[in-house]
Amino acid sequence: MPGIVVVGLQWGDEGKGKASAYLAKGASLAVRFNGGANAGHTVTLGSMSLSLHMLPAATVSTRAAAIGPGVYLDLEEMLKDVRRLEEAVGKIEVIVSPRAHLVTPLQLALDAKIEEVRGGASIGTTRRGIGPTALHKYGRLGLRLCDVLEGGEAEALAEIWRRLWGGVVSVKSEEALKSVKRLAEEVRWMVGDVPSAIMSRLSAGETVIFEGAQGTMLDIDHGTYPYVTSSHTTSAAAAIGSGVGLKAIDSVVGIAKAYTTRVGAGPFPTEIAGPIADAIRRRGGEYGATTGRPRRIGWLDIPQLRYACMLNSVDQIFLTRLDTLATQERVEICVKYEGVKEPFPDTVEALKRVKPVYLEMEGWPEIGEAEREKLRREGYGALHRAARRYVEKIEEELGSVIKYIGIGPRIEDVIMK
Ligand code: IMP
Repeated sequence: MPGIVVVGLQWGDEGKGKASAYLAKGASLAVRFNGGANAGHTVTLGSMSLSLHMLPAATVSTRAAAIGPGVYLDLEEMLKDVRRLEEAVGKIEVIVSPRAHLVTPLQLALDAKIEEVRGGASIGTTRRGIGPTALHKYGRLGLRLCDVLEGGEAEALAEIWRRLWGGVVSVKSEEALKSVKRLAEEVRWMVGDVPSAIMSRLSAGETVIFEGAQGTMLDIDHGTYPYVTSSHTTSAAAAIGSGVGLKAIDSVVGIAKAYTTRVGAGPFPTEIAGPIADAIRRRGGEYGATTGRPRRIGWLDIPQLRYACMLNSVDQIFLTRLDTLATQERVEICVKYEGVKEPFPDTVEALKRVKPVYLEMEGWPEIGEAEREKLRREGYGALHRAARRYVEKIEEELGSVIKYIGIGPRIEDVIMK
């Protein structure tokens, strides 16, 4: 009964959408368990590229999706995703946990307000209301889908919100509640028991893909706090955020890009600027799928990845975008942080002081359509020797297996090692 967790090993945008759509071939359910509409999981279907914010990208393979109680539910974005996905692939099954906390216009307004008040120390959030929804949830002031659909507490809660936030933001609590009530009716048909839906499939021997959002370094406890998201982004969150036990998980596939990117503020030890960064950004279309912001670019960071592999109990790595890193004469890998003893520094200040030690390696030529075709046919051995050396160096440094390698944007542009 394979329960497979797909988790980002860097700062998000590792290519989880495409990777989990690939890994979900033959699976019967794709589950989102964390984050919210801050995610943008992109899959390329033929000539069409689809960025999903609430539904797992693996739904293109499974045709069935579940949204666990650990997800911050933006109903409007979810309805948009369902519409766009059904236009692209036909009818899908969607099961949404009634326990998921709702993002309302109030939380969206508070996200913008908090960023404004932070001024120069702003996080650079996606403005999708994630932090304020978490603030309400963990402060026991959150509004869940079931609270709206079953009535009862919602009005009393809106009154508390009014007393707390009236005068702080212009959005009125009762208006916020009204808008989600209308949308909640539209998703009523999707409400179902997510843990049972997962467990019944696993017990029947089917495969379930748990598709993590964001990346390990954005985890609220283990990431570069406070420049993180307000969710757990490591593999253990798959169990809590969907409502199954740890034994429902059989394997963890960690997704790592062949270089590193980060969007938003915060420390980034291997960040580079200048022509190489610009070229990678251009080649890879490295702009946020949710916000359109240019992503910051850096070399691959082994100490960071080693830390991420440990936190996630990674079984196998899926290395994405080897094709994007192609055409560089030389590529670099950070193999250690000078003088740093702990697995990964705890504070922003310590991370700013980090001095990465780089290993320079030979680059590899363009991986175009003809090379992709050949690689798909002949496999890993047909990869340019410099690219193979790069892959094997990463494995050696991490002591982990790279099983899948992304060589292009489409779901099938993958070679197995
Ligand atoms: P928030 O999750 O919108 O609160 O944003 C907090 C930080 O996480 C910001 O630096 C965002 O850019 C980053 N972030 C949130 N979601 C994603 C994602 O899906 N990919 C990459 N970065 C993200």
